[in-house]
Amino acid sequence: MHPYHPTHTAIHDWYTIHGRHDLPWRQTRDVYRIYLSEIMLQQTQVGTVLERFYAPFLERFPTLSDVASASEEAVLKAWEGLGYYARARNLHATAKLTQGALPQTAAQLEELPGIGRSTAAAIACFAYGEAVPILDANVRRILYRFFRRRTAKPPELWRMAERLFDSAHPYTYNQALMDIGATICTPQSPECSACPLRVQCRGSEMPERYPTPRLRKVKPVRKRIVWIFTDGERYGVRKGEARLLGGLYGFPQSERDLSGTLLGEVRHHYSHFTLEGRVVLTDERPEEAVELHPLDAIEALPLSMADKKALELLKHHLL
Ligand code: ADE
Repeated sequence: MHPYHPTHTAIHDWYTIHGRHDLPWRQTRDVYRIYLSEIMLQQTQVGTVLERFYAPFLERFPTLSDVASASEEAVLKAWEGLGYYARARNLHATAKLTQGALPQTAAQLEELPGIGRSTAAAIACFAYGEAVPILDANVRRILYRFFRRRTAKPPELWRMAERLFDSAHPYTYNQALMDIGATICTPQSPECSACPLRVQCRGSEMPERYPTPRLRKVKPVRKRIVWIFTDGERYGVRKGEARLLGGLYGFPQSERDLSGTLLGEVRHHYSHFTLEGRVVLTDERPEEAVELHPLDAIEALPLSMADKKALELLKHHLL
């Protein structure tokens, strides 16, 4: 008998009643639909993915072969607003590499760009029933608490994940842990009385101590001029090259003031800083090379959120 057999039974029963069975990626065994959901959910919450991105992306790209035959720019356009655009670039690269046919094991999936060990496990488990544990941020928090650990390095966390894992019911167990992590075993004020792991959980007396809370750093503010150069008819944009916004288009930015018309201000939170941009329309040419396009052509390009907001200010100004 598995030492955590009573907990496995409780998790299984809990999922039957409380699991989020209606999530669309739980209503399919199509590996592409499952893969897409796991990539979107890597850095974005279920609600956002569900409300604004998952269905429209599938409408635009119904199969992975459709992604493979599209340009990176078209894939980025469908990802617009979801952030962490490396995910979209890797999705496109994976579609091309596999020619639209994903491999069927976690070990092979992990070789592909943008698919780490936990995502590979999630895809293989949910699409093919492979008995492998997942270790995303929610599961990690459950393990810290269950084993009453304040700190642990990734290899230890993986060992903990394997110890608790219910290999007889991998699909239900993995989906259940994600739901429990998202709705019960939350970072603040977890609801231990509702948790199916509570009987064997060693951290339930003081769950907030596990793991050791990390100090939240204040995000630095980056103040920039968003430089909208115009020749009177067209506007200058350039393609981003940095990791953050690679492949997306945007207006050049400057640290120095410039003369022109102030259209307004944009604010956008990135993972490691907050951008505060003063949007200026000017006939002064930026130092960087720009492509000149009319407004409607710029709207059709994949843009970062800050640039989308700047474009809205421009459109409002031109009304
Ligand atoms: N986060 C990552 N994968 C998930 C899934 N399959 N269901 C709910 N949340 C998730």
